[in-house]
Amino acid sequence: MTRKPTPADGFSFGLWTVGWPGQDQFGSASRPDLDPVESVHKLAELGAAHVTFHDDDVVPFGSSEADREKILERFKGALAETGITVEMLTTNTFSHPIFKDGAFTSNDRRVRRYGLRKVIRNVDLAAELGADTFVMWGGREGAEYDSAKDLNAAHDRYAEGIDTVAGYIKEKGYGLRIAIEPKPNEPRGDILLPTVGHALGLIAKLEHGDIVGLNPEVGHEQMAGLNYTTGIAQALWAGKLFHIDLNGQKSIKYDQDLVFGHGDLFSAFATVDLLENGFPGGGPTYTGPKHFDYKPSRTEDKQGVWDSAAANMASYLLLAERATAFRADPEVQEALAYSGVLELAEPTLGEGETLADLLADKSAYEDLDVDAVAERGFGFVRLNQLAMEHAVGARS
Ligand code: GCO
Ligand code: MN
Ligand code: MN
Repeated sequence: MTRKPTPADGFSFGLWTVGWPGQDQFGSASRPDLDPVESVHKLAELGAAHVTFHDDDVVPFGSSEADREKILERFKGALAETGITVEMLTTNTFSHPIFKDGAFTSNDRRVRRYGLRKVIRNVDLAAELGADTFVMWGGREGAEYDSAKDLNAAHDRYAEGIDTVAGYIKEKGYGLRIAIEPKPNEPRGDILLPTVGHALGLIAKLEHGDIVGLNPEVGHEQMAGLNYTTGIAQALWAGKLFHIDLNGQKSIKYDQDLVFGHGDLFSAFATVDLLENGFPGGGPTYTGPKHFDYKPSRTEDKQGVWDSAAANMASYLLLAERATAFRADPEVQEALAYSGVLELAEPTLGEGETLADLLADKSAYEDLDVDAVAERGFGFVRLNQLAMEHAVGARS
C-alpha cells in the first residue's frame, strides 16, 4: 500500500477512460454509460486533480446549441463543487462515420473543412475552461492501402490543419499549447505521425511550431516496439514534452490501454524515474499533469472501474517512491559514476577547443591505446540489477 493521492500529485484522467462502457470489436457494452458529472465527483474522491475530455464525451454529438449550454453549465457545476480542473481538451474526429477517412487528411475536402470547424469550436471551449493543453490524436488520419492516399498532400494537409488551429490560438491570445499524440496503427491500418520522432519531424516544419509539442502515450510507442522512456526523453530534450498519456501495454499487439504499471512494469519504473527525478546529469524536466489514458477492462463492473482508476495513481506513487530510493542510494550513485553515466554530460570538445585543436591532439587519436580503452567494462548490468532491486522494493 502507498499513501492516498492528493490533488498536489497532479493526477488527471480522461473522462472517456473511466467512462468506457466496454464495447469492442467483438461485443457490446458490458457496463452502463457513466454520467461525466458522477465521474468528476468520484475522481475527486479518489484524489485526482484534473479531468480531460473530448467534446463528445460531455456534449453528445449533434446536440443543439441550447442543450450544449445546459449540459456544460451542469458540468461546470461539478467542477466548482469538487475543485477538479480541466487541464486538457481534445476533439473527437474519429467516431462519426464522416471521419472514416480522417479529418485533417480526409481525401474529401468537405470533411476536412468540417473537421477544422469542429476542432476550432472546441479550442474556444478549452480556453473558456482554462485548459493549458489541446491534444490532437489523429486516429483516423491514415490509410489501410498504400494506393489510397497521396502521402505528400496528406502531410501538407495535416500541417495546414495544425497550423491553422495554432494560428487561431495565437490570434485569440489563448494560453493553450497543442500536443500531438502519435500512434502507429488502430483504428487505421497505418496512422500518419506513427511515433514521437515522426511527429517531431512534422512540428519542425510548421509555421506555428513554437506552440506545438507532443502527448506521447506509453502503449502507442510500445505498439511500435519502441522504448517509451527514450521517446519522452527526446521530446523533453527538444522542449516538446507538453503532456503525457500513461497506461500499460504488453508488447506489440492491439492497443491494450491497461492500467499504468500493468504492462511493462520495469519500463514504467524508468518512465517514472525520468518524470520524477529528471535526467541524471540535469536538463529539462516534465512538470505537467500525470494524465492516464487507460481503459477499465471489459471484465470490470462499476466498482472495478473505480478500483482501476485508483490503481493507476497507486502504481505511479509506488514507482515514484522506488525511483526516489534508487537515486538516493549511494551504491547507485557510485554505479552511475562507474558506468560513465554522469560523464556523458561533459562536452566532447573542451571549452574553447576547436575541431582543429582536436585534430592536432595526438593523445586523442595517434597515441591513444585503443585496445586499452576498449578493455573498459561499463558495468551496465550491475547498475540495471540495482534498478531492478529498487523497483521491486528489495532495497530501500
Ligand atoms: C486511443 C488514443 C485516444 C486519445 C484521445 C485523446 O488510442 O484511442 O489514445 O484515447 O488519447 O482521443 O485525443
Ligand atoms: Mn491509446
Ligand atoms: Mn491517448
